[in-house]
Amino acid sequence: MALMMALAGCAGRQSALSPAGEDASWLHDLWIVMLVGAVILWTALNGLFFFVTRVRPNDWPERHANRLIIGGGVIFPTVLVGTLLAYGLSMMPHMRADGDGLVVKVRAEEWWWRVEYWPAGATAPIVTANEIRLPTGQRTELLLDANKYIHSFWVPALGGKMDMFPGRETRMTLRPETPGVYRGQCAEFCGPSHALMAFEAVILTPGDFAAWLEAEAAPAAPPATPEAQRGQTLFRDEGCGACHAVRGTEFDGLVGPDLTHLASRQSLGAGIMEVTREDLTDWIAHTRDIKPEVAMPAYDWLEAAELADLAAYLEGLK
Ligand code: CUA
Repeated sequence: MALMMALAGCAGRQSALSPAGEDASWLHDLWIVMLVGAVILWTALNGLFFFVTRVRPNDWPERHANRLIIGGGVIFPTVLVGTLLAYGLSMMPHMRADGDGLVVKVRAEEWWWRVEYWPAGATAPIVTANEIRLPTGQRTELLLDANKYIHSFWVPALGGKMDMFPGRETRMTLRPETPGVYRGQCAEFCGPSHALMAFEAVILTPGDFAAWLEAEAAPAAPPATPEAQRGQTLFRDEGCGACHAVRGTEFDGLVGPDLTHLASRQSLGAGIMEVTREDLTDWIAHTRDIKPEVAMPAYDWLEAAELADLAAYLEGLK
């Protein structure tokens, strides 16, 4: 009971103990079985040790003593650990299962995530950033690599970790089951902003996912207000489009995150801020204070009104 209450404290949207998919459920079961096995082994061996040293320390004929040592010290742990090993290994083929068609490529950049969706049969990807959306009930293949440093892709509620290397592609497949918004986090130390390298994993029903992907493939909405219009002009004049792409405009930079549908994302700056007027202006003016050594310079020379215009333009990129 006390153990169950302690474990309940580990629930949440970034917890391997609150599985929201088939892979995480396997890992959850594996973890429980390993924990129970470890508790049994620890209790039995320490109990035996206590018994023979404290309870009956003296009257052990050699024959009995040998039996205890071989039975309790060799055979019992070998059988128990061997059984746990066999159980763990039996899961490995599942972890390398094939995908059902959709491929998502994720590249770890300097403290953000470049994301490409390749539906079955696609000849060009749908590009986004800093968010993963996956449908329930099917197995999606993730192809992972990195730009410059080693990172690790991990959404605890969906499955295990997979390292991401420059110049070498790793793969994993995930089959989410429960719609919701979960949190992913880079799980390999990769530099000063490692801890600020997170993302949202949004799990949708297949129908919702198809609708979202169609919207994501569409070009950006044109600025709808005079404020957003001024923001777009400023975006052009400040050269933002040299690094950022906004599909449907002349902005086609590939260095930074694609911003085509920025305002439909759950977070800003790779899982650390919200897509609100306040956070957008704060981010644009203070990038390197907020995320050390990030490539984007801080536009701290812009007037408050200019920052607000830029934010208005970005907020309209739904
Ligand atoms: Cu990327 Cu740690």
